[in-house]
Amino acid sequence: RSAGIIGAPFSKGQPRAGVETGPDQIRAAGLLHRLQEQGCAVKDYGNLVFEDVVGDHPVGRVKRARAVGSANQRLSEAVQAAKKDGHTSVMLGGDHSLAIGSIHGHSAAVGELSVVWVDAHADINTPLTTPTGNIHGQSMSYVLHELRSKVPVLPNFSWIKPCVSAKDLVYIGLREVDPGEHYILKLLGVKVFSISQVDQLGVGRVMEETCDYLFAKVKKPIHLSYDIDAIDPSVTPATGTPVVGGLTYREGVYITEYICQTGLLSAVDMVEVNPLRGQTEQQVQSTVNTAIDLLLGCFGRVREGYHPSDYHLP
Ligand code: ARG
Ligand code: MN
Ligand code: MN
Ligand code: MN
Repeated sequence: RSAGIIGAPFSKGQPRAGVETGPDQIRAAGLLHRLQEQGCAVKDYGNLVFEDVVGDHPVGRVKRARAVGSANQRLSEAVQAAKKDGHTSVMLGGDHSLAIGSIHGHSAAVGELSVVWVDAHADINTPLTTPTGNIHGQSMSYVLHELRSKVPVLPNFSWIKPCVSAKDLVYIGLREVDPGEHYILKLLGVKVFSISQVDQLGVGRVMEETCDYLFAKVKKPIHLSYDIDAIDPSVTPATGTPVVGGLTYREGVYITEYICQTGLLSAVDMVEVNPLRGQTEQQVQSTVNTAIDLLLGCFGRVREGYHPSDYHLP
């Protein structure tokens, strides 16, 4: 197992500055070294460089479509390259609009995917239902086959082909869903484990049911799109749209351990870490360190500990 790290310092899918510094902060806190320490090969592709777009005025309600479209096209190519090199792609955001390019590139490289979206939000608004115009709240609408006819093509979005079926998508942790999003989730019959289902079933059963559901027919490679705001803001406060009542640290890590042990994890996004949204250095560190622990869980870290197979008692 090897990780191909792609930094995506991009923030124009939402209005708050700082989320573009996520990749460097996560690296500075030791991600690469920690992965290597646990026996994971790592290739760092560095940070993507995104071109400035002039005249990026709103298209209907949607803000900064041209910048988001062009950044995601770059990211899609980078993810495709990491997959062709044989890595599990690790996209460090940046805001969650980057899931568009990450999922698109992943699917272009490996074919049909399962998507596990761990988030307080569904990020499935269309350009017509969005209450804010921020594309980080719309990402899934651009990649779902079933919403094709409901999503107008925005400038710099014409390269995007829907590549995920609604039946191959599972949400975990939802607790702030807009009316239009709720309608779409019901209309398409998307599998959702809201935070209240996590309370009801426990995270263990949620993960069992997630995998039973996704593996019912064929086992597809898994794309894990992890928004740090899925975790409770008492643990990960440095994020742009915190929502009270989130996953505990332990539930959050358990999700990654469980997905890892399926052996099907093929790409992961870690997004919405915004160091500028922390009120103290401690809040920033807690957020960044949790993001790292979630990624370590994706690459085989187990909390029970381990010993090498040739270990002898001294
Ligand atoms: N539902 C709201 C919107 O569409 C908030 C989305 C927050 N998304 C995120 N990736 N943090 O604007
Ligand atoms: Mn979110
Ligand atoms: Mn298809
Ligand atoms: Mn999100």
